[in-house]
Amino acid sequence: MPELPAFRVLGIIFILWWMLPGSDYQSQSVALSDLVVSRLSHYRASLDVLNTTHWADFAPVVEDDGDHASPRYVNLTGFREEDHLSWQDLGRFRERGLQFSRHAMLAVDGEQLWDVAQGEAVWANASGVLLGQWVRRQETIPRTYDSYNLSESVPSMHWIGDKTDWARNVTGGTGRLQVRLTGNETVAEYEQLSKVDAPLSGGLIRNVKAVVTVEDTEGSGLSWEMVLFGVHWPRQGVIMMATTSEKFDGIFGLPHLTPGPDYFQSSQRFLNQTLEHTIATKEKNIYSDQNIPWKSNFESPLHTRNPSPHCEYVVYLQTHPPSRQSLGLGSAIPKGESMAEMLQAIESELESPLGAPIKHIPKLQMSAVVYSPDCGLFMESKGPPDFPRSEGDHLLGVKFEVQISSINYWLLAYAVMMFGQVMLLKGQMKETYTPSTLGRVSFWTISMMLIADGMTFSAAASWVATAQYTFLPTLTLTFASFMSMTIGGSLLAKIHEVQTPPPRTRREGTQGAAGPNSGSTSTASSAPLTPNRTGTATGPILPGPVTAGRGLGNPAVANVGAAASIADGASAVPGAVTAAARPGEPPTQSPTFQSLMGRFVLVGALVMFVSVSSIAWYMTARSWFLNICALVYLSMWIPQIYRNIIRNCRRALKWQFVIGQSLLRLLPLAYFWLKTDNFLLTRTEPRAFAVLCLWVWLQIFVLATQDAVGPRFGIPKGWMPDAWDYHPVLREDNVEAGGLPIGLGAEDSPGRDRRRSSEDRDKARPGSGGGTTRAIDCAICREVLEVPVVKAGEEDMSVTGVFSRRMYMVTPCRHIFHSLCLENWMNFRLQCPICREDLPPM
Ligand SMILES: *[C@@H]1O[C@H](CO)[C@@H](O)[C@H](O)[C@H]1NC(C)=O
Ligand SMILES: *[C@@H]1O[C@H](CO)[C@@H](O)[C@H](O)[C@H]1NC(C)=O
Ligand SMILES: *[C@@H]1O[C@H](CO)[C@@H](O)[C@H](O)[C@H]1NC(C)=O
Ligand SMILES: *[C@@H]1O[C@H](CO)[C@@H](O)[C@H](O)[C@H]1NC(C)=O
Ligand SMILES: *[C@@H]1O[C@H](CO)[C@@H](O)[C@H](O)[C@H]1NC(C)=O
Ligand SMILES: *[C@@H]1O[C@H](CO)[C@@H](O)[C@H](O)[C@H]1NC(C)=O
Ligand SMILES: *[C@@H]1O[C@H](CO)[C@@H](O)[C@H](O)[C@H]1NC(C)=O
Ligand SMILES: [Zn+2]
Ligand SMILES: [Zn+2]
Repeated sequence: MPELPAFRVLGIIFILWWMLPGSDYQSQSVALSDLVVSRLSHYRASLDVLNTTHWADFAPVVEDDGDHASPRYVNLTGFREEDHLSWQDLGRFRERGLQFSRHAMLAVDGEQLWDVAQGEAVWANASGVLLGQWVRRQETIPRTYDSYNLSESVPSMHWIGDKTDWARNVTGGTGRLQVRLTGNETVAEYEQLSKVDAPLSGGLIRNVKAVVTVEDTEGSGLSWEMVLFGVHWPRQGVIMMATTSEKFDGIFGLPHLTPGPDYFQSSQRFLNQTLEHTIATKEKNIYSDQNIPWKSNFESPLHTRNPSPHCEYVVYLQTHPPSRQSLGLGSAIPKGESMAEMLQAIESELESPLGAPIKHIPKLQMSAVVYSPDCGLFMESKGPPDFPRSEGDHLLGVKFEVQISSINYWLLAYAVMMFGQVMLLKGQMKETYTPSTLGRVSFWTISMMLIADGMTFSAAASWVATAQYTFLPTLTLTFASFMSMTIGGSLLAKIHEVQTPPPRTRREGTQGAAGPNSGSTSTASSAPLTPNRTGTATGPILPGPVTAGRGLGNPAVANVGAAASIADGASAVPGAVTAAARPGEPPTQSPTFQSLMGRFVLVGALVMFVSVSSIAWYMTARSWFLNICALVYLSMWIPQIYRNIIRNCRRALKWQFVIGQSLLRLLPLAYFWLKTDNFLLTRTEPRAFAVLCLWVWLQIFVLATQDAVGPRFGIPKGWMPDAWDYHPVLREDNVEAGGLPIGLGAEDSPGRDRRRSSEDRDKARPGSGGGTTRAIDCAICREVLEVPVVKAGEEDMSVTGVFSRRMYMVTPCRHIFHSLCLENWMNFRLQCPICREDLPPM
């Protein structure tokens, strides 16, 4: 095996390193620590401000009741007067939040119990994944980047791109909104406030984090993800979160944005502790952990002096109480207490399954108000009361545990499909193991499957180490895809071995003509093998097409002498042709199997890398990219169709294999292209999927046509190299020229008796096929073989003719057999069973 060049080895090592999970990037510079220290002291100052301020200290908009005449600000970045943020909509933000909350909780007897934290029970643990539509509301004062002077409001930073459109800017009127909420999982998150301080806020609070994906479908066509941190009041089901960045101390100012003093007090107290804890931890690990806490975007995780501005967001979420129908309660209205108990029972069963029966797990539903004080944006989730329920029902989703079990379910289903692929591969390999059958299978068809399986394997293998909740299914998938990959790889290796033209040394050796020179030629000719590695990957893989007899293959020139056609047929064996007919040709070096595999790894890694980075692309570009990737992937039968045509081979793969693989490879795509609540929450594209299905069906149809009427049916003769036609039209006019197979000619005595008897039968059903039928013994199975022979001067263009020609095969040495018999024979030996003449492969 030739050694791989150093750069390729390095490339593979790099890819492995890149794929390995959790490679903690610890080489952070000491120079950064100055910055980290100053940022942490900034956080401390902000925490002090949070600690010492009171409700209504932040009142940027003067209300009309005139109690306090001047607007009031707090000394937090983004919340100061000199930052000039657009706080005009803050009142509306609180107002809309309360409206949504009160709409979600039905008033009982005209009394809004939600206000006193006595509303209907909601999920206490809000972790989950939600999806819905947002609609934009007219903002009071539109803002542009020109409205701000960032070098003035945050002088310590060197801003990049603050004088162009900021990131995360929304320009359209509507789009999709995804929320992935992660509540704090520790039980210690609850803080029971004393009744005196917090009579109304329900006494419960915890911290939450959310990854929110906004798709600006109508406007820029971009989508982006942002991370928000905040708090969750489980009793009311209210969640408030904000982004935090160098120009916006969102998490520190969050209590000032809450709807009321109760929320302010409980969140101020709670944040005072948790933020303190975070800052203290960061201060302790100032050299080892320089990641930004409360970071709002996924770009570089480290502190930087050159940040680029993003629009900042504040989000208000209200969890809806599950409807009674979804709990399976019907119209029997239980009291509030039992609702709460039911929810609690379901939640505790979800968190630590004990096997308690759960009839039905209601969906998680929330309404959202999204407000950007610096870009002046105001958005809401689409749903009642402003929109009918049919148009949008706010954000709908499932709880985290349900999501996990659904992911596990689908991962297992995928693993089962992978095992299905393994079974199909094994079935195919049972049939395809002789050089003759291996020669028919297209290398590239199997390669495409192998690349896809390899990508599945590497994705699953790199995920498995970090998959806490999905460990076992991911491990199963890793194993299944590994099996599929190795078995496909071994099949591919055999195909490669058979289809690569053997090195010249061996050819000359087998020819046996080299004599005493053979030793020296082999050393001489092995020298040019190594340097020429730049050969294209496509060319040399397909062995030279079988150039075979012109005689019987083409009815028009069928009266060429039999001797000539026998000679041609003999030279149709690839090894003989290449060695004998083109002796002076320099050996074309084909890439070794190992180097091809290396290329496949590179291609797979590149595709995965581009797919991952396509998250940041325009939505249409990404969707086109993914659709084209899927289309290329599902074009896997095209190389096989091509190879069938070139080799004049009707069928190389089992139908079971073709249809099974097509289905098993379409199904995972169907999940993402058709299922709206798939676990990645990707946009579904039923039309694109229909096109993909049609494309696969078309390929299978072509393969079926090739099997039924011959691979070259309907293709102009000049377009492909000649190949031996095993199913020629047998014509009576060839009899004199010796063109008819031995035993069928008029002068051949052995077939005569039988012919007579078959002629008797012909009288019974006259006029079949426009010709006569003659009979002969098949030398392999010793059964009668009836062949239609076209009468002199007649044309045979009928469809039945096409099919009846499938029944027999004529060798270049003019022997005729049952198709099935000779095909089975040829799977083992490429020699005529009667005269041991070499046969061209099919
Ligand atoms: C918070 O404020 C109190 C006084 O209101 C002060 O005693 C305490 O040290 C402050 N805590 C922090 C973390 O600044
Ligand atoms: C605001 O806080 C900064 C430190 O973060 C301090 O230097 C500045 O004097 C404060 N401004 C006011 C008006 O208190
Ligand atoms: C919320 O989750 C925590 C931890 O998973 C659990 O201890 C707590 O009981 C849950 N709350 C409810 C109301 O089920
Ligand atoms: C922004 O503020 C800086 C520092 O105060 C000042 O030098 C600059 O002129 C200001 N730019 C604009 C456009 O006002
Ligand atoms: C946001 O987009 C609008 C419309 O394209 C533009 O006028 C505005 O300047 C942008 N805002 C920022 C902060 O870039
Ligand atoms: C959960 O809250 C506790 C205390 O409130 C805190 O120590 C812990 O870090 C939090 N966990 C997460 C994942 O935020
Ligand atoms: C904030 O936390 C400190 C201790 O970390 C405490 O002394 C102070 O009273 C807290 N402030 C408020 C407003 O809860
Ligand atoms: Zn037979
Ligand atoms: Zn023969």
